[in-house]
Amino acid sequence: MRKRTNSKITGTGSFAPPRILTNYDLEKMVETSDEWIIARTGIRERRIAEDGTGPSDLAFEASKIALKEAGVEPEQIDLILLGTVTPDYPLPSTACILQDKLKAKNAAVLDIVAACSGFIYGLSIASAFIAIGQYKNVLVIGVETLSKIVNWEDRNTCVLFGDGAGAAVVSATEEEGGILGTFLSGDGSLANLLHIPVGGAKAPLTNENIHLKQHYISMQGSEVFKSAVRAMEDAAEHIIQKVGLSSEQIDLLIPHQANIRIIEALAKRLKLPMDKVYVNIDRYGNTSAASVPIALDEARRKGLIKKGSNTVLVAFGAGFTWGSAVIRW
Ligand code: UT7
Repeated sequence: MRKRTNSKITGTGSFAPPRILTNYDLEKMVETSDEWIIARTGIRERRIAEDGTGPSDLAFEASKIALKEAGVEPEQIDLILLGTVTPDYPLPSTACILQDKLKAKNAAVLDIVAACSGFIYGLSIASAFIAIGQYKNVLVIGVETLSKIVNWEDRNTCVLFGDGAGAAVVSATEEEGGILGTFLSGDGSLANLLHIPVGGAKAPLTNENIHLKQHYISMQGSEVFKSAVRAMEDAAEHIIQKVGLSSEQIDLLIPHQANIRIIEALAKRLKLPMDKVYVNIDRYGNTSAASVPIALDEARRKGLIKKGSNTVLVAFGAGFTWGSAVIRW
């Protein structure tokens, strides 16, 4: 059998739009309070993209940083995998638009609609293509402008989400380590707990459904909460075991940033102290597909990831989808 090619992350980058929306700003928009939002979610502020700024613009900024660090020129990218549920347009894919912006003219292009798990789905697909020798450099992105698809009159959702982008260059390597393993899963039977009911081909936009605000995110929060903790625990445990590590050998956990209470419950179940868990939800809120790659980029830049250390990435989102990855640096 042909030897599998290893893959590693050679560069990361992130970008969030400069405009900050604080909990105090939200107090003026819906019936909520800074105390409630902090206590129930851990969020203090989130970033909001200006009108006219698309995910491709945020992704472009994050990708430039990642490519520079990796020392990879745009023409050397073989594949762009872009996780988003807030594409620039229904057609074409945002990956296509980004390819043109980057001048990555040799890249195949694909959007991944896996909500908050989109980046981890991308990493897994990237490492699989590299493993079979088809590609050498894959640009993986998670990007969202969720501010455009939330109902700013619905306090159940509008306090939670934010905009941003994170990117990673995944490259073939002769070295040991890198992306040790990935795990992906999903459960479409629970789709209705977190979805946008209209706006696709099955239920096109009409004056009536727009009037009823059915074209925005709808979520049954406490149900999603329970599934999120359970699925992320399973996903993290599964991949740690599969790559032959124990919980004590994990140096850093980078979970999807949806709620500080979900993150703390997950850490407890995995028996990891919170100083081994990266948290930035206070500054960004839930940025869906962008959450894990923004956190990964920040953790690397803060020097929290040392050579030879083991990092676990884990996410859960609408679909439901979930996934995990273990990386040795
Ligand atoms: O990224 C994909 C995955 N997403 C998630 O994992 C999100 C998971 N869910 C959550 O994070 C939490 O369920 C929420 C933060 C969304 C909600 O927290 P909760 O502790 O589950 O609150 P709840 O929905 O059970 O609501 C409790 C109360 C309700 O009032 P009553 O019925 O008890 O009078 C809500 O109406 O809190 C009320 N409430 C608010 N109050 C002030 C809901 N949103 C707000 C708000 N400000 N923004």
